[in-house]
Amino acid sequence: MGTVPTINLNNGQTIPQLGFGVFQIDPAETADAVRQALEIGYRHIDTAEMYGNEAGVGEAVRSSGLDRDDLWVTSKLNNGFHRPDDARRAFDDTLAALGLDHVDLFLIHWPLPTQYDGDYVSTWKTLEEFYHDGRARSIGVSNFQPTHLRRLAQESDVVPAVNQVEVHPYLTNEEVRAYGRDHGIATEAWSPIAQGGVLHDPEITVIADRLGKTAAQVVLRWHVQRGDIIFPKSTTPSRIRENFEIFDFELTDADVTAISALDKGEEGRTGPNPDVFDYIPA
Ligand SMILES: NC(=O)c1ccc[n+]([C@@H]2O[C@H](COP(=O)([O-])OP(=O)(O)OC[C@H]3O[C@@H](n4cnc5c(N)ncnc54)[C@H](OP(=O)(O)O)[C@@H]3O)[C@@H](O)[C@H]2O)c1
Repeated sequence: MGTVPTINLNNGQTIPQLGFGVFQIDPAETADAVRQALEIGYRHIDTAEMYGNEAGVGEAVRSSGLDRDDLWVTSKLNNGFHRPDDARRAFDDTLAALGLDHVDLFLIHWPLPTQYDGDYVSTWKTLEEFYHDGRARSIGVSNFQPTHLRRLAQESDVVPAVNQVEVHPYLTNEEVRAYGRDHGIATEAWSPIAQGGVLHDPEITVIADRLGKTAAQVVLRWHVQRGDIIFPKSTTPSRIRENFEIFDFELTDADVTAISALDKGEEGRTGPNPDVFDYIPA
């Protein structure tokens, strides 16, 4: 089996293109799930304060026996803590929950343009502090639309290393990806298999049958060949392994084009639209 490729970020760091996502994994089960992923060979874990399971991620990472420098850990700022002092406290809490002295990547989870007087810029400038003091080796954003990214470009200094957005065959999100490509911001594709929603599409299952692969493997491979970073979530041991075995085959250009053509635009979105999403935890 091939090894996981890395993607070069705009600040010289390199991130494994395939990781393991832990959204909706029960905090009590997270350490076990991450341990299994690390045993299979995953070296990149994607968590968030709002998932409530940073402690489980940290426990698995710290007890893995792996060199910290060989692991990539991402977390994200809770929507409730965008004000600078809150963000500073929240970041301290993230490191404490993980039991680590740094994260590899810290993201603003959502732009929340209708909250905090639309001020995600001072939040971003606070993340710049974590980057400059070395406790976040890279910083980035999540769910930022081109208009939000343009504003950061005008009003701040550090270009986000990544933008983590919903991308899968039913929402290919080309405009956001193109902005990233043009401005040196790597795209991370969340819900890469649309939480399973694309796996019965005949266009995908026909390709999977031809290649002797599963639909999930074909879709994850499609992301990889498009150059995006992915971290599928699973708590099923056989699927954690299946999702890792995507480097021993290739899709043709025609396969990639056919899967991209399944895009349904806004209709294909499974999560909230970032322009209007305004959720702040109680
Ligand atoms: N930044 C954001 O706003 C944001 C939003 C959503 C997600 N994310 C990140 O992206 C990661 C992935 O997204 P996601 O968890 O929403 O969805 P996903 O990875 O697209 O799909 C996960 C779902 O698909 C199932 N599944 C996984 N592998 C499978 C396979 N090989 N065959 C059939 N079913 C399979 C899982 O079931 P089982 O677990 O039962 O196996 C689970 O129900 C998250 O964990 C999180 O790290 C970020």
